[in-house]
Amino acid sequence: MFSKLVQRRSLGALCTNLRASISSAGPVATESSLEEALNSDYVFEREAKYGAHNYHPLPVALERGKGVYVWDVEGRRYFDFLSAYSAVNQGHCHPKIVNALKSQAEKLTLTSRAFYNDVLGEYEEYITKLFNYNKILPMNTGVEGGETACKLARKWAYTVKGVPKYKAQIIFAAGNFWGRTMSAISSSTDPSSYEGFGPFMPGFQVIPYNDLPALERALQDPNVAAFMVEPIQGEAGVIVPDDGYLTGVRQLCSAHNVLFIADEVQTGLARTGKMLAVDHEDVRPDIVVLGKALSGGVYPVSGVLCDDEVMLTIKPGEHGSTYGGNPLACRVAMASLEVIEEEKLADNARKMGELLRAELMKTPSDIVTDVRGKGLLNAIVIKETKDCDAWKVCLRLRDNGLLAKPTHGDIIRLAPPLTIKEDEIQECCEIIHKTLLSF
Ligand SMILES: Cc1ncc(COP(=O)(O)O)c(C=O)c1O
Repeated sequence: MFSKLVQRRSLGALCTNLRASISSAGPVATESSLEEALNSDYVFEREAKYGAHNYHPLPVALERGKGVYVWDVEGRRYFDFLSAYSAVNQGHCHPKIVNALKSQAEKLTLTSRAFYNDVLGEYEEYITKLFNYNKILPMNTGVEGGETACKLARKWAYTVKGVPKYKAQIIFAAGNFWGRTMSAISSSTDPSSYEGFGPFMPGFQVIPYNDLPALERALQDPNVAAFMVEPIQGEAGVIVPDDGYLTGVRQLCSAHNVLFIADEVQTGLARTGKMLAVDHEDVRPDIVVLGKALSGGVYPVSGVLCDDEVMLTIKPGEHGSTYGGNPLACRVAMASLEVIEEEKLADNARKMGELLRAELMKTPSDIVTDVRGKGLLNAIVIKETKDCDAWKVCLRLRDNGLLAKPTHGDIIRLAPPLTIKEDEIQECCEIIHKTLLSF
């Protein structure tokens, strides 16, 4: 083992050697002494060499997180204003969630659904009572939740609504994002999601977002099974629909016997200042898809909530997943939901979100052309010039100690963990102002 002193002195040379070994296609050094000497450049280059190039990360190499903070491999501290795309609502490494993970991991992790386990039913009872639905179908990732909702809608259309076999249609809103599977990209209007991956899933239609007359026209087709929509479009750039949109969706879907599927994977679990974003309009979707913060960021957990009329259309063997509903996931999910309730994160998100937007509005409009959002799901739109764009702003925010990521060109999403406090919001707004004014 190297001494700390030797490590520090020889860090530069060591990393140069490591980089040389990467570029000569030699094996990456794996000795723990070398691992300790990781620096950011080495982390970037190793991923570029051995990993698929399906992401374009901001150049920062993280190794630790606690609450609203993350630290990079050189020990620099940052405010996390992405929260892993709203998965880390409860803050990084929340002790209650990590303890739930640890204690269950020592007892029983995975049984598959071939057998019962002693935690799944407890979790199902807890979450269905919390959200007032008859049943939950547990999965792992958000996109699997969306897939599950689509399968439930099709099965319900054939077995309950009476749609002729394989004629069911599902309507989506332009700008939607619900993941990267073939089904998810088949409903996408973003070429970077779908281009080059056809042929696409049939039976999907897309209408404009926030457009009730367009929905009403689409629902004239008697074969429509469902309308799947995000209450606020996250990946599209935090697009907040008009007040009354969700109420209108509910009314139209009910009038045409069509299922209203709310994709709350990003908006749900207190992010927008209510437990669910649909709660802002007091509407009850037929199907709710949850993911991300259902695990507080420690483990992939997703789930679909609905009532028996829809859920019981799927019979044994027709849908599932090896890991879905495993005891580890169930304990983590219960702890994650309890933290949201105990720490009143929805209230905090609402209050801190108001403060954040009020501060951001003070930025000159020739730099930031729009500030929008609800709770702590927010975005600013950057006025692009030859010297300034969203990517450059995010790089400079990083240099000033705050991590955020551009979404769709000129938009920067600002979504810290919901545990953030008032003085931290003030400090972050100072960082954001200072950064923006430096352009
Ligand atoms: C609204 C929404 N639905 C679904 C997903 C997919 O979740 P996952 O990446 O866990 O599959 C995302 C991911 O960003 C999302 O924002």
